[in-house]
Parts: sequence; C-alpha cells; structure tokens
Amino acid sequence: MPNAGITGWGKCLPPAVLSNNDIATFLDTSDEWITTRTGIKERRIAHCSLTDMAVVAGKRALACAGIEGKDLDLIVMGTTTHDEQCPNQASGVQRRIPGAEGCGAMDVNTACTSFLYGLSTASAMIKTGAIKNALVIGGELISPFMDWNDRNVAVLFGDGCAAVVLQATDNDEGVQMERLGCYGESRGILQIHGMGGNYVHADRLIGVTEWQFEGQEIFKKAVSGMSMASEDVLRRAGKTAADVDICVPHQANLRIIEFVAKKAGIPMEKVYVSVERYGNMSAATVPVALCEAIEDGRVKPGSQLLMPAFGGGLTFCAHLVKWGNRSTPLGKSDAELAPQTRSALEIVQHYRKAKGHAVAYI
Ligand code: UT7
Repeated sequence: MPNAGITGWGKCLPPAVLSNNDIATFLDTSDEWITTRTGIKERRIAHCSLTDMAVVAGKRALACAGIEGKDLDLIVMGTTTHDEQCPNQASGVQRRIPGAEGCGAMDVNTACTSFLYGLSTASAMIKTGAIKNALVIGGELISPFMDWNDRNVAVLFGDGCAAVVLQATDNDEGVQMERLGCYGESRGILQIHGMGGNYVHADRLIGVTEWQFEGQEIFKKAVSGMSMASEDVLRRAGKTAADVDICVPHQANLRIIEFVAKKAGIPMEKVYVSVERYGNMSAATVPVALCEAIEDGRVKPGSQLLMPAFGGGLTFCAHLVKWGNRSTPLGKSDAELAPQTRSALEIVQHYRKAKGHAVAYI
C-alpha cells in the first residue's frame, strides 16, 4: 500500500492587518484584555475572495512540490466560509489552476478541523490507490460573517489560507495515525446563526450573522478533545510524547495550546505558535502554521509531527505525520493577490455599516 507524503506547501495571507487597538476603536475591549486572555495581538482581514486566496496558496504549494495542475487527481477544500454554497468552493479553485480541469473537486466542512479532516480524506484515497496526487487546502474568509458588534467573538478570528500537495510514495512518510472525533451533543455552543438553509424563507437576510458562542465551554471541550486525540494517536502508533519533534496545533487561544501541550507532556519549545499574529483562522490555522514552521527550519527531514485541532461541531482530531526527506521547496510560484487598496479597519467598518443592508460585501 502506498503512503501519502506531503511534498508541497504554500500559504496566502491577506496583507491588511487589524490590531487589537484597531478593534478597541469601535468595541468595548482593550489590547490588554485580548492579549492576556488569548495571546492574540493582530489578525489579517481579506480584501479579496476566499477563492483568490486558495488559488494563490494552491499554486504556491504546487510549485513547491514541483508538479503542475495537470498532475492533480483531486482538490480538497477545507472551509466553513465558502464564497458560495453551490457550486462548491473546490470547483472554483480548480477552474483557476491551469491544467487542473477534469480533476476531482470536493469541499470538507468540519469548521476549524476542516483542513485536517481533508488531509485524512485525501491521504486515505492515496493509500487505497484511488488517486495519486492531491491538493488539500485549508482556508477561511471569516470577516464578512463576523458579528463586528459582538466583542465576545470579534476579537478572536482572522482570514487566511494555506495548502499542501500530497503524493503517493513508497517511502515511510505522511499521515501515520489519526483520530477524528466530534462532541455532537455540544454543537450548540458554537453556532453561527444566519448561514444555511435554516434561515432561508425565515424572514431573515442570509449572511446577517449572530454568533452563539459559549467561550468557556468551548475552551474546556477543546482542551479535552485535543488532549484525548493526541494521547490516542501516540498510543496506537506505539509512540510517546518524547517521540514528537514538533507539535503544530490549531491556533485559537494561546492558553488552550499551553493546556493541551502540558496534558500531552510536550514542552512548549516543541510547539509552534503563531496565534499572536493571525488569531484564529479556523481551517487555515494548522496549514499556515505548518508552512511557517517549515520556513523557520523547524520541520526537518524525517521529523515526527503532531497536529491536534478542534472546531465547531464540536469536532476534534489529532494527526501524527512523519515528514519526508525534503523541507525545501522545489520551485516558487509568482502567484500573488491583487493589490489591496483599503486598510483592515476600513474593510471592517464597511462590514459594520453594511450589516442588515443588501449591499455587496467587498
Ligand atoms: O475554534 C473555536 C473557536 N473558539 C474558541 O477558541 C473559544 C475558546 N474560548 C476562549 O478562548 C475563551 O473562553 C475566551 C477568550 C473566549 C474568553 O476568555 P475567558 O477567560 O473564558 O473569559 P470569560 O468568558 O470568563 O469573560 C470574562 C469577562 C466577561 O465579563 P464579566 O461578565 O466577568 O463582567 C466578559 O463579558 O470578560 C468580558 N469580555 C471581554 N472584555 C473585554 C468578553 N470578551 C471581551 C472582550 N474585551 N473582547
């Protein structure tokens, strides 16, 4: 049976930065509160569509792997914030990657764990021989769906995207063990009202959102789900925390990351943290952090990675991944986003003004 090695990686972060102090200009909050409770200092706000970001990240990952669109058998897009529900997000990405026409294109939505659930899906298909090469993307454009009047959630999230290329290989690498789970009974503690069929014909403007968000309950479930899944994959793989070279967790809150690392017995020096720069980008947090850990030289040939995550649902998971023999890109793409013309605060102020009115969001 072949394995599914990660041979390419690429990220796309929108350039506009929204600082904690920017948010404090229109919400009753402070840099001090946000920093001490979450570790977040700033986040990115997109001036473009999710498809734009996914195409740039995807092209960069393909160039890094040294393959082209025509080599792809499947594109998996992990996201909760699709540009549109129908047609799906992955088909929009496929259409804009030269040569990729005709390959499979599917979306996976498990909220913040969507990238990792997508990684499992594509890896399993490679292992069965159904496909050979896949592009797995994790991306979110959360800012248009944010309730910018709710300080409980508005300070936590950001936009971003990243992608990896998976390729069939006989080498001992790729996803070695995973645990996928969900506390379905707790799905109501993180709900975005105003997105989805429940709100159609319900006297409500679709896209005008309110977040049902029980922060402390999510916090507890996040720690227990990620810790349990991490212990489970290590035990089933016959490994211990000492075997982990680097942990790349979902980045929602620094305190959650610290709790999970402590429970799993992994010292913080081995944990990659980027939440201070991007906030919670949902499905994009793990792949963006992975790209940056590689760029920083922290993922070496043969490294043992642990990637735990949680998200709405409440889904949780952990993946044990063995890195292949290359941590340097084979090539570089010149793909870029269109230039940004407005500041992050201007984009957010536009959303705040537009809320409840039928106007274009960008
Ligand atoms: O990927 C899934 C995404 N979800 C999460 O990651 C959420 C996980 N939960 C958390 O990260 C934390 O629970 C939060 C950061 C959301 C909240 O931290 P906390 O330490 O659990 O704070 P809290 O809920 O106990 O709130 C404490 C106080 C409250 O005031 P009172 O009732 O004590 O007077 C809140 O109203 O802080 C208030 N508060 C704020 N104050 C300033 C809540 N949000 C803010 C804010 N600025 N942005």
